[in-house]
Amino acid sequence: MRWMYACFVIALCALIFCEYVADFVVLQNCKWPEIRRKKKYVDDPLRAMILADTHLLGPHRGHWLDKLYREWHMKGAFQAASALLKPDVVFVLGDLFDEGDMVSEKRFEEYVWHYLQMFRLPPGVPLISIAGNHDVGFHYKMHPFFMGRFENYLNFSKVHLYTIKQIHFVIINSMSMEGDGCQFCAEAEEKLRNISSTLHCMQHPQKAECVRTRRHPYSQPILMQHFPTYRDSDKVCKEHDAPVIEAFRERFHVLSKDATDLLGDLLKPRLAFAGHSHHYCHSVNRLGIDEYTVASFSWRNKVDPSFMLATLTPDDYEVYKCKMLPQQFVYNSYMSAALACLVLIFLQLKKYIKRHYELSRLKRE
Ligand SMILES: *[C@@H]1O[C@H](CO)[C@@H](O)[C@H](O)[C@H]1NC(C)=O
Ligand SMILES: *[C@@H]1O[C@H](CO)[C@@H](O)[C@H](O)[C@H]1NC(C)=O
Repeated sequence: MRWMYACFVIALCALIFCEYVADFVVLQNCKWPEIRRKKKYVDDPLRAMILADTHLLGPHRGHWLDKLYREWHMKGAFQAASALLKPDVVFVLGDLFDEGDMVSEKRFEEYVWHYLQMFRLPPGVPLISIAGNHDVGFHYKMHPFFMGRFENYLNFSKVHLYTIKQIHFVIINSMSMEGDGCQFCAEAEEKLRNISSTLHCMQHPQKAECVRTRRHPYSQPILMQHFPTYRDSDKVCKEHDAPVIEAFRERFHVLSKDATDLLGDLLKPRLAFAGHSHHYCHSVNRLGIDEYTVASFSWRNKVDPSFMLATLTPDDYEVYKCKMLPQQFVYNSYMSAALACLVLIFLQLKKYIKRHYELSRLKRE
């Protein structure tokens, strides 16, 4: 029975390696990018980890085993990344949930609880969760009910200005950027204009209209949202990893040209991050700034997932794409273990048959 024992050890090693060790090994290669240009804030940057499209499965779609395994892996990968990289802040750019706009209130509460467990961070490190179309519905479906509960549990469902270490992030609900005057769209646009004037007052505190505003030092903001700003397709990316190039539809795959221009006019951003397409892309967008579309964090949507590490100061930035454990590697490891076991069994069988044959021959003689 030695072969059974050996098989067990092989399987156990594969299991421990794939499920507990491999994430750490792979993520060792990821480092915070360094800002080398000598500028004012370079010694005290903000380190932001940015991920997207975690799509936690709900009760309706997907197989329970798929859900269990993929989520187990996402939790492991995230916890390994957080332990190794120690970010100052983490952003999740929408579609946290796969069925956020389909589940009951009670299920949603469980969903959020589960999500916060998976993406738990050390105390004092904020987790900024941004609404995606799977969290609150596409534009036609967005209802105060979905928006309200997302905001209740996760704080940011609409348009918000979030400032940390003097760096301004404008968080945007992409689905409310239709510009058709719907209730959410009108409110979002008003909020954008308010943020625009807040930023304007940071920049020009001496102006008459600005005397009563709270002041942070001004720096150009960074856009954080679920949809990318307008682009035809990933063909325009300087780098991308989409296996097929798909033509993007305005308001569905990407923001409309009008909404993109509106964001540009009102906010004068210097950098943008988005998700939604499930594939990585670095482009210089319609506004002439760097935009990073972050790949999905889940193996369900991307067999070789990744996330972004951004080193940010009020006047500079560097971004690095951190590659995660590819699904194929895990699959290959288990297949190799199974193959090793099969070889062992085969050798054992051969020995057994040989002995049996020899025994019967002895008997005959
Ligand atoms: C939402 O904001 C409140 C108050 O700032 C904070 O205590 C809470 O932890 C935040 N919730 C999440 C999920 O970040
Ligand atoms: C925008 O600012 C005005 C004036 O300060 C305020 O009354 C209004 O509620 C703000 N709108 C939003 C959507 O926050």
